Amino acid sequence: MKKKIAVLPGDGIGREIASGAAAVLEAAGKRFGHEFEIEYAEIGGAAIDAHGTPLPDSTLELAKNSDAVLLGAVGGPKWDNLPSAQRPERGLLAIRKELGLFANLRPIPSFQKLVQSSPLKPEIAGNVNMLIVRELTGGLYFGKPSERRGENNEVVVDTLQYTRDEIERIVVKAFEFASGRSGRLTSVDKANVLESSRMWREIVNEKAADYPNVTVDHMYVDAAAMKLISSPGQFDVIVTENLFGDILSDEASMITGSLGMLPSASLSESGFGLYEPVHGSAPDIAGQNKANPLAMILSTALMLKYSLNMREEGEAIERAVQSVLNDGYCTSDLQMEGSTVVGTDQMIELVTKRV
Ligand code: NAI
Ligand code: MG
Repeated sequence: MKKKIAVLPGDGIGREIASGAAAVLEAAGKRFGHEFEIEYAEIGGAAIDAHGTPLPDSTLELAKNSDAVLLGAVGGPKWDNLPSAQRPERGLLAIRKELGLFANLRPIPSFQKLVQSSPLKPEIAGNVNMLIVRELTGGLYFGKPSERRGENNEVVVDTLQYTRDEIERIVVKAFEFASGRSGRLTSVDKANVLESSRMWREIVNEKAADYPNVTVDHMYVDAAAMKLISSPGQFDVIVTENLFGDILSDEASMITGSLGMLPSASLSESGFGLYEPVHGSAPDIAGQNKANPLAMILSTALMLKYSLNMREEGEAIERAVQSVLNDGYCTSDLQMEGSTVVGTDQMIELVTKRV
């Protein structure tokens, strides 16, 4: 099968780990008989330098004309003094919005070898395998008005707004994933206080009737924040609105011990997807061949599974990653006793060989 993939490396370590994505795609292509045509484009600070804008039209066009998009990370001190509307991070918000990527998925597996890097006790961290489904294009981040008011601008307003359609589509997505996994769905809200959460809960209960094989429970977000630390193993699929999802998914990501391990997928209604590591451009280690490329490589595996209908191919990459870790290799962000610390390039090579 022939597929066209847009790769947007971005800035900092994004540029170093993007080569890992290309390398595993080539290896998977060879093994399974596919041709991946990779085309690169700029986004973020690199695009500001080359084109004067964080999301050039040419980059957006390329993304729209590809079968899927892989993104590294954006941002860095070089662009920190720009006004917020012109910063690298704008490029990221804009591409998500332009492509209608309303469903953000963060799988959080436990890597058996890595439980010692987790801040949680091994018996708690070792028992985790969850998927957080976060609404990505609504809620407080996009609701209007969002402004300062009053005589001295001393009143501030943000708006948490959702339409029924916006909630339904993310809830349905979460039920679909839950029914393909263990059949447990936790919907997280603040229905004891927020009107938006009350409608969220109603919709989850309505949709539950269509998925008799899924067991649903509702949890307040403050309780969920506690349970993620005290008993993360109880969760399978979590679905929640934009802000709650932002916070809970960062919290949950620490269970595995390093940001450098975690991939994400952002999907549109038609199933089009953008795949990226959850971490940023790590300016503190950029250019030193230290970055952990596994989050990028695992994002590539997710892309094969979710967007290209290549489950077996994606799983081959995931197994290759597990096997490298089990053989005792890691990058310097992971504190694994008795392991061999390798650089970005060598880690990419180790995984590629096993694919
Ligand atoms: P960050 O995720 O870039 O780094 C946080 C810490 O984790 C740093 O110490 C870094 O060295 C380490 N780290 C992150 N990824 C790693 C990897 N793959 N391997 C080894 N160590 C890794 O977050 P930070 O420092 O808050 O932000 C840096 C820049 O990245 C900022 O400009 C920020 O706006 C941007 N950013 C971009 C994101 C994106 O493109 N999706 C997400 C988060 C931040
Ligand atoms: Mg966040």
